[in-house]
Amino acid sequence: MVKKWFLYSLISILVVGLLSACGTSGNGDETSGEGEKKVLVMGTSADYPPFEYIDTEVGEEIIGFDVDLAKAITEELGYELKIQDMDFGSLITAMKSGNIDLILAGMTPTEDRAQQVDFTDIYYTANHMIVSLKDSNITSLKDLEGKTVGVQMGSIQYDKAEEIAEEVNITIENRDRIPQIVQDLKTGRFDAAIIEDTVMKGFMEKDADLTGFTLESDEEGSAIALPKGSELTEEFNRVLKEMEENGEMEELINKWFGGEEE
Ligand code: ARG
Repeated sequence: MVKKWFLYSLISILVVGLLSACGTSGNGDETSGEGEKKVLVMGTSADYPPFEYIDTEVGEEIIGFDVDLAKAITEELGYELKIQDMDFGSLITAMKSGNIDLILAGMTPTEDRAQQVDFTDIYYTANHMIVSLKDSNITSLKDLEGKTVGVQMGSIQYDKAEEIAEEVNITIENRDRIPQIVQDLKTGRFDAAIIEDTVMKGFMEKDADLTGFTLESDEEGSAIALPKGSELTEEFNRVLKEMEENGEMEELINKWFGGEEE
């Protein structure tokens, strides 16, 4: 008797569970429950070639190194990947409120950020670059004296600008998206900008007016951000390591950065 009663309630719990699982998986844009292939939503700021950007000549999709990397890892771990574009400065808040499951945005694992999210191992490194127009003759930090410097909102380039401002008198300006910064540089609203060298390289190849010099002293790396305490971080690290070892990472780096780094 007791057994039968137990069995019935077990079944009804299962049925209710299944029904609600169907309900959420139909929703599509969140991590769904058991059964269906689980979806992970990656947040990114698609203003950052070759990490993540839209190449209108190719299509409307977000492409890039981070996208390929995220696809490779999530596929290996059995997840379906969806990508959500937003301003770089909104990414961590979006993950903390559960709107996205991971961040790949060429994001540097700073101490401040690491208090709010967990980071995988670093998968690529770069340096800060001071960018300007060729005819402005800005070739050292001292040349920034009295100048207006543009940086991306919420980026470590902003922190770098504040650090520079302690020594050289500069006005710091924020923009949400990298192309806006390049635009303001071109129109003379900014005298200089701080952008990472791997990203700037692409802009400079397309525009002969732009030039820059690298601050070799402070290297910055990119890592994948996951929610605090996420069990995925370890699994992601395992796949990253595998990809380093089997040459897949090198292949991706060659594909997107042209292969002369690392
Ligand atoms: N690495 C820098 C940082 O973490 C800049 C990253 C900007 N990424 C982007 N997709 N716009 O602050």
